[in-house]
Amino acid sequence: MRKPSGFADRYQSVLVPVIFEPWTREMLRRASPRAGEHVLDLACGTGVITRQTAKLAPARLTAVDHSPEMLDVARSLAASAGLDADWVEADAAELPFDDDHFDLALCQQALQFFPNRPAALCELRRVVKPEGRVAFCVQRGLDVNPMLSAQAAALDAHVGKEAGDAVRAICSLSEGSDLRDLFEDAGFQDIEIEAVTLILHHPDAKAFAAGAMGGMHTGDKLSGLANKSAEHAVEAFLTGLAEYLQGPALRFPHSANIVLART
Ligand SMILES: C[S@@+](CC[C@H](N)C(=O)[O-])C[C@H]1O[C@@H](n2cnc3c(N)ncnc32)[C@H](O)[C@@H]1O
Repeated sequence: MRKPSGFADRYQSVLVPVIFEPWTREMLRRASPRAGEHVLDLACGTGVITRQTAKLAPARLTAVDHSPEMLDVARSLAASAGLDADWVEADAAELPFDDDHFDLALCQQALQFFPNRPAALCELRRVVKPEGRVAFCVQRGLDVNPMLSAQAAALDAHVGKEAGDAVRAICSLSEGSDLRDLFEDAGFQDIEIEAVTLILHHPDAKAFAAGAMGGMHTGDKLSGLANKSAEHAVEAFLTGLAEYLQGPALRFPHSANIVLART
């Protein structure tokens, strides 16, 4: 049994239950994996999509990420749950699979980070069978995501602009029209893009704020700060979210584009 340690464990323990699990349910409802299908979880992180897909259909599951730390957590959770999946370390632009390999590919909150988005989408189209389906979830702008805008402002003020930029990068592919161009240029068909807003919640706003700051790519910068500065950053984050506090709890809107398409 591995011991929880760095960024990937903090991501899994705080951000996945509050943010990525509800969005995974939303994506799976639309993409409808079917029994026997071979499903790819692209940029799987700690594996939330693969774990939830396994509950829905006795599909064959393959999950890819370029981060060994994320894959370590994913493998360990899968092993504890007795879940059978292939966990593969690879870059999205260079997938180690034959052509026409998958029936369905799912990709949550990662396309915006790929250094070469067109190459990754062309590569995905190569490995998904003809008439296969893909579903993506990509964050919309800071203007409709108060949690992220409060986080960016708190990091700018208390850690530095580079840390705030890491949050702004989450919203760097926020326009549906840009997504449509990318998927069309990569040769996908029947492209549907829907702006979806979920209301997310955590019963303890303070615990969420501390955990969310530590579970970002910026988390290590935060843990390197003097205690007082890190506390100030978390307090500023909570102050920025004041209108979403309900007693000790936090309820906030979180908005993303969901893209469905066929190869
Ligand atoms: C915000 S996380 C989302 C993870 C997961 N999809 C989820 O829903 O929890 C973004 C993930 O994309 C992965 N990633 C970023 N760029 C990548 C690339 N070029 N190839 C493969 N994985 C990549 C990161 O390692 C990280 O695990």
